[in-house]
This record gives sequence, C-alpha cells and structure tokens, in this order.
Amino acid sequence: MEKKYLSIKEVLEKKEGEVSLRGWVHRFRDQKTTIFITLRDVTGVIQLVCDQDKVSPELFEKIKQTTIESSIVVSGTVRKEERSPQGYEIDIKDYEIAGLAETYPISKDFSEEFLLDVRHLWLRSRKMQAILKIRSTVFRAIHDYFRSQDYYEYQSPVLQSVQCEGGSSLFKVDYFEKKGVFLAQTWQLYAEPAIFSLERIYTISPSFRAEKSKTTRHLAEYWHAEMEGAWVSFEELQEHAEGLIKKVISDVLKHHRDDLETLKRDVKVLETAISKPFVKMTYTEALEILKKEHDMHVEWGKDLRTVEEDLLSKMYDTFIIITRYPKEVKAFYMKEDPQDPRVVLGFDCIGPEGYGEIIGASEREDDIKKIVERLEKDGEDVSQYDFYLDTRKYGSVPHSGFGMGVERIISYIIKADTIKDAIAFPRTMVRYRP
Ligand code: 4AD
Ligand code: MG
Repeated sequence: MEKKYLSIKEVLEKKEGEVSLRGWVHRFRDQKTTIFITLRDVTGVIQLVCDQDKVSPELFEKIKQTTIESSIVVSGTVRKEERSPQGYEIDIKDYEIAGLAETYPISKDFSEEFLLDVRHLWLRSRKMQAILKIRSTVFRAIHDYFRSQDYYEYQSPVLQSVQCEGGSSLFKVDYFEKKGVFLAQTWQLYAEPAIFSLERIYTISPSFRAEKSKTTRHLAEYWHAEMEGAWVSFEELQEHAEGLIKKVISDVLKHHRDDLETLKRDVKVLETAISKPFVKMTYTEALEILKKEHDMHVEWGKDLRTVEEDLLSKMYDTFIIITRYPKEVKAFYMKEDPQDPRVVLGFDCIGPEGYGEIIGASEREDDIKKIVERLEKDGEDVSQYDFYLDTRKYGSVPHSGFGMGVERIISYIIKADTIKDAIAFPRTMVRYRP
C-alpha cells in the first residue's frame, strides 16, 4: 500500500508528482498574490507556494489565515525550483489547518533566559531538533557499545540511603518523614553488589547533584552512563572508556552530518579526535606538563581545577586520560595503587576543546579495612554502608567501573556553549521550570 502522507525527506527524494504531507509552519510570507510557507517536519523543511490565480478564492483565503507554528495537512505537486534552498517546491492544491497557532512568542533575537522560559516551545527550533536527534543516537550508541561487549543492562534505585560522591552535592528527599534518603548521585554502590551475579553490567539513568555553583558544565539532573565489571582491570577500564567514546562519536558522525551542519559543528575536529589513541598521562606528569608548558605551579596533592584541565585539553586534539590522582582528592572506593599508596588506580577522561571531565573511573578498593578507614575519615556513618562492605566479605573480586556524563559528551559533540543545550529541560540551581 502506498503511504498516504510522505515525510519531507521522502518528498525530496520523490522529486515530482502529487504528494500529501503534514507538519508545522516554520516560516510564513504573505506577498499579497503569492504566499510562501516553509513547512517543517522531523525530517527537514520544504517550501510550499500558492499563487492566488491558481487556486479557488476559498482555498487562498484559508491559507492566508495560517500563523507561524500552526500544524497543517497539505497536498500539492512537487516541482524543481533552483531558487528554493532545498531545490524543490510544492504548489499547494489542498490545505487544512489542523491546529491554528496563537501568536508565537518566539521570533528573532531572544535572550538565552527567555528561551529557557519557553523551552517547551523552543524544542521545535531547528537547533534543538538537531541536538535532540543527536542525543537519541548517543543513547543508542551507548547501549550498542555495551551490548556488543556482552554487558547486561541493570538498574539501581534512584532513592538511596548512602552518598558516594561527597555529601555536599546530595539531594535530600522527604521520604515518609524519614531522614537519610537521597537521590542517586551514581548507581555505583548498588551496582557493585550486582556484578557478583551478572559480572558485567551497565546503565543509562539520571543522576542528581545539588551543585551549588553556576557553570557551563554542571546540571542538577543529568544522565549518567555507567559500567561496572568483575575481573575488569584498570587497563581494560581505560580501553572501555576509549572504546565507548569513539563508538558514540563515530555513530553521530555516521548518521548526523546534516544536523552537525545545522549546528555549525566542524566535523573534522570530531573525526580527528577519534582517529588516534587517547593521550595518557599520570596526574604527576600532568603537573609537570603544566609547569613546563604553561609555567603553572600546582602543588602535588591538590585536585586539578577547571583552568588546569582546560589548559591541558587545549594542547591536544583528542581526549586525555589522566590516571593516578592523589588519594585525598578522590572518592573512598578508589583502589590504592599497590606501587604507590599515595595515589589511586582511578582516572578522569578529559574532553578536547575545554569540555572538561567526560568520564570518572577507577578500579575499586578491595581491602575492606581501607574502605572503612576512608569512610570514617570522610565523617560517614559506616553502619549505613554494611550492605556495600558485604561485597568485600563474600567472594570479593578485582573489579572496576566508570561513569560518563551523557550531556558532557553531547556538549562536546555539538560544541555547546552550555551543557543546558544538551538536554531538553535542563535543571540547575536556579532553573527547574518549566
Ligand atoms: O566523576 P563522577 O562523580 O563519578 C561517579 O559518579 C562514579 N561513581 C562513576 C562510576 O564509577 N560509576 O561522575 C561521573 C561523570 C563525570 O565524569 C561527569 O562527566 C558527569 O558524571 N557529571 C556531571 N554531568 C553533568 N552535571 C553534573 N553536575 C555532573 N557531575 C558529574
Ligand atoms: Mg569525577
């Protein structure tokens, strides 16, 4: 059976004949005796034309009623037209307004804040449409990567009774009048117990951080792609980080040339980044490079700040894996390096062009005494972690895992000015509506 309605992409492929299609009015130009409409659907845009002397007065009048962002159902003839941006135009033969739009609040030149206020409408923009399509492919690529590596998809609770990434960014929940319940910062402490059953697992789910700073990299709610694997070594973990990022970027390059063009993203930058091995250095080497190349002195033991990460990232045209940070600046679960107990077998993977930390990773500490010591040092109530400590009591295995901020990698791919552009409805300290 032939389809009744074609998409704009299908119409552009068909190039001629009678077609029916549906969509929204992206642009509307009334030139008295001729009306030009730019129609938008999920696949693209195309120009519709109507000359007053070629249609009935009733039809012309109906078309004249159209407003920006009205939804319409239209039939007509496709014709080659050199002057139209798509190379083809449709002469309108039949026309129905499915939903007449009120005066659309978004026109040109609105502030970022206004566009966030009307985010529910701004999702229709060509920019957000391109980003959301790319985002969909990023999610699929993450699933495909882990499935191809024989990882099981596993889900952990969002309501949790322990912190994992520091108490200061915990979202407290009003939980039936009980205290000590938080939104997940990470799946990790509930994922580690599951590897004793499924061995290799991954997830993509929301994580929550009560970040009290306004930056272009932090969301209060973000999507977190995490993996955890029994018997996975620190070296293998780095290979997975590189493999995952390369898979995500190469899938976007494969399917979204047009969307990247809409976003004015230089695809060569992305191609270069995945064409070579990621740069690897230890934290200590990073400090030496900062000193030598940028005359920047960072005291050994201090965490790398955004400025330092950015300086390093701008030296290379691919991702950097920085390993073996000082124990003091990293989380309690990261394994102490047997060669050097001052550092941990953890790494941060830093994006190019100053996009910051894309992945945080580590081999997990298996010495239960060391975990308890570090929790106590952090001022935690260790009894809350009994279930977690049990993993080290009953058949403990060497294991590793990481978390990738999905909006962080999307930000880099689309060269976003702010991470808020990488998600439909961003949540930050000051933004929770609409
Ligand atoms: O480095 P983080 O805090 O590591 C963890 O949560 C580990 N438990 C993950 C694991 O090993 N399973 O967070 C991981 C990543 C960061 O590298 C960053 O990309 C992203 O999550 N991220 C954020 N993205 C957006 N907004 C925020 N506020 C983020 N905080 C972290
Ligand atoms: Mg981190």
